[in-house]
Amino acid sequence: MAKAKKKAVFFCKECGYESPKWLGQCPVCHEWDSFTEAPPAAKYLTDSAVLPGMARNIPARLNEVKAGEEERTVTGIGELDRVLGGGIVAGSLVLVGGDPGIGKSTLLLQMCRQLSADGHKILYVSGEESPKQIKMRAERLGSFNSNLYILCETDLGAVSSAITEMKPGMVIIDSIQTMYSEEAGQAPGSPGQVREATSVLMKLAKSLQVSIFIVGHVTKEGVVAGPRMLEHMVDTVLYFEGEGGASYRFLRGVKNRFGSTNEIGVFEMRQDGLEEVLNPSGYMLQGKPEDEPGSVVTCSIEGTRPILVEVQALVCQTNFNMPRRTAAGTDYNRVNLLMAVIEKRLGIRMGDYDAYINVAGGMKINEPALDLGIVAAILSSYRNQAFDSKTVCFGEVGLVGEVRAVNLPGQRVMEAAKLGFSRCILPKANSQKLELDASSLNGMQVTGVGSIYELLEVI
Ligand code: TYD
Ligand code: MG
Repeated sequence: MAKAKKKAVFFCKECGYESPKWLGQCPVCHEWDSFTEAPPAAKYLTDSAVLPGMARNIPARLNEVKAGEEERTVTGIGELDRVLGGGIVAGSLVLVGGDPGIGKSTLLLQMCRQLSADGHKILYVSGEESPKQIKMRAERLGSFNSNLYILCETDLGAVSSAITEMKPGMVIIDSIQTMYSEEAGQAPGSPGQVREATSVLMKLAKSLQVSIFIVGHVTKEGVVAGPRMLEHMVDTVLYFEGEGGASYRFLRGVKNRFGSTNEIGVFEMRQDGLEEVLNPSGYMLQGKPEDEPGSVVTCSIEGTRPILVEVQALVCQTNFNMPRRTAAGTDYNRVNLLMAVIEKRLGIRMGDYDAYINVAGGMKINEPALDLGIVAAILSSYRNQAFDSKTVCFGEVGLVGEVRAVNLPGQRVMEAAKLGFSRCILPKANSQKLELDASSLNGMQVTGVGSIYELLEVI
């Protein structure tokens, strides 16, 4: 490996696109004169892939490699542990991404508070705030003990020697965009700098077996080359998201080398930090209008957990040649497709109507199981008839108007029963196979439907 001929890799300073040769214009972002040669740190993959205690250039037999369970540290914040797959894995590199101001620093500081209380030595490196600012935030969160150290530094070399000398159990880097290394020779936050900083931190994490959390900002356009490129390098990627005004925050695992992905953690931002939301379904349905047309409760599976959400639709006659359609919290094209299915299969002239769809509560859901809820909400608003507020419905809708089976139906039904709903409408294929005892149904009626006509018949 070491003797392999080094290929020069060039990359675009603007978007991070890589090419084996220099290009005058980037084929992706169309920026001119943006290509530079990557620093040698680009060979991060080969280094990070080596397991401790194994020679890197000798092939090993797979069945002789010892895997075992990773050593994990439980943070004590249940929603965070869930997303991490049961705690922090020693020597892992975790990226926490999200819009500015969403609460990344707060979440990590709260994690530090818990861990330092459990006796772990922790280093919090901030390139964005002064010790005073961090202290001010910390005071809102409660008291901290002496195991937490703060370092306000942007120089990568200084940060890395501080980690090597101090040997903490956990390190937070807030944020990766502020880290600067002389060697990468570009401005802080540029792809070259971000890549260099991440590969240095990766090596430190693996060699010292210290877990490192790095914060990455995402701009409005979501195009900061840094975080996108970072995702490939780190072990775990968590995104912290939420709607502007609302106080809900969702921590979503999008990549996890040590656990399942798509798990979500739900928090509420309060005056004194982030509070875990232990019953997300109840929380998401707070303030749901009763007996209003266009409001339907449906059930989505996030990772392994069912969450009930309210889908709202507003359908009204259009004043334009082209009807207006919007979708907040779900896929716009999916909504258009469902409207076309309604038009064709139920013979309703949707082309004459504007439609606005919203998943209440600020959650983003792209699961097909939401289809039946969206269709029911559209029909309810169109007919100006309220959908029974004690009924939950879910199922995937196909192009022929058929209602198709979804995964984990039992869990969804049980969640609805637990929250006191009296009826659940679900795909016929699911209801036929459902094996639930009467006690877990809590008196709830279960209705299977095979198509959207049948949905119309049963409501
Ligand atoms: P912050 O963690 O600084 O966000 P990020 O690191 O993602 O940029 O959080 C900033 C927002 O959170 C800020 O607008 C204030 C709010 N906040 C609270 O509402 N309660 C709190 O206890 C704290 C610490 C912050
Ligand atoms: Mg911050």
